[in-house]
Amino acid sequence: MTAASPNNPIDIADLLAFYASAGVDDALEDEPVNRLAEAVQKPSERAPVAATPARESAPPPPEPSRPDMSRLPDAPPARAPSASATVPDEAQAALARQLAATAASLDELRQHMAAFDGCNLKFTAKNMVFADGNPNAAVMLVGEAPGRDEDIEGLPFVGRSGRLLDRMLAAIGLDRTSAYIANVIPWRPPGNRTPTPHETEICRPFIERQIELVNPKVLVNLGGPSAKTLLNTTEGILRLRGNWRVHMTASGTAIPAMPTLHPAYLLRTPAHKKLAWRDFLEVKAKLRALG
Ligand code: URA
Repeated sequence: MTAASPNNPIDIADLLAFYASAGVDDALEDEPVNRLAEAVQKPSERAPVAATPARESAPPPPEPSRPDMSRLPDAPPARAPSASATVPDEAQAALARQLAATAASLDELRQHMAAFDGCNLKFTAKNMVFADGNPNAAVMLVGEAPGRDEDIEGLPFVGRSGRLLDRMLAAIGLDRTSAYIANVIPWRPPGNRTPTPHETEICRPFIERQIELVNPKVLVNLGGPSAKTLLNTTEGILRLRGNWRVHMTASGTAIPAMPTLHPAYLLRTPAHKKLAWRDFLEVKAKLRALG
C-alpha cells in the first residue's frame, strides 16, 4: 500500500475506509502522536503537560530511524566485552562441579541438575532431558543436546534421529532396556542452535558425573560435540570415529569409548551409514570381549 497523500481527499477517504474496515473507528487525540519518539525522550526532556498543546511553537521531536536504546530510561548499562564477562559463567561452572561431585546417585544427580539455575538454556527449555534406558546397562551412549521432540517428552533421542538410533542399536542386539542414553547438555538450545562453549562447560560436570555413576563398560559418543567434550580432543568426528579412545572419570576409571557419527548426520548423509555400522560392530565385539 502506498502512503496516502494528505492533500488528496480521495486518498484520505480510501485511508479512512481502510481504517474503518480494520476496526479502527475511534480517534483518541486530535493530532497523531509519535510514541516511538516519545519513548526515546528522557522524562526530564519531555515537554511539560500544558493545558492546551503548543502545536505550532514546539519543535518537532527528533525521529531517529531506529530507536536509540541507550536513551531509554530503564536501559541497563552496556556490559563491556572484557575478560570479566566470563566470570559469572565460571562461577556457574564451579557450582555445577560442586553439585555434580556431591551427587551420590543418579537420582541425586537428577535432583541437583533440576535445582541448578546456572545454565540459561534451562529457562527456554520445556523439560530437562536427563536420560533414558537402563542405568545398569554395559553400554552408555551420549549425544549432544535435546531437540524439539526430546524437549517436549523429556527423554533423549525420541525424534527422527532417535528412531534411527533405535534401529542402529537393534542391529547389534540392543535396545533401551540394555543401553543407557543421555546428552552432554540436558536442556534444549532454543531453535536447536549449537550450544555455546560456555553452556557446554557449565553442563560438562553433570554428564561426567552421570557417566561415572553409571560406570558403563563401553561409552559411545554420538557425534563430534560429545566426542570432543568427553574425550578431551579437538579432532573432527570423521577422523575420530571408528577408533577406540578412553574416557577418564574424575575418580580415575578408564572407560573405552567409541566415537561415531550422530544419527542426525546420518539422516542427512545416508552414504555414511556404513561407517556407523562398522563402529557399532566394534562396540558389539568389545562388549562381547568384556563379557
Ligand atoms: N540429538 C541429540 O544429540 N540428542 C538428542 O537427544 C536428540 C537429538
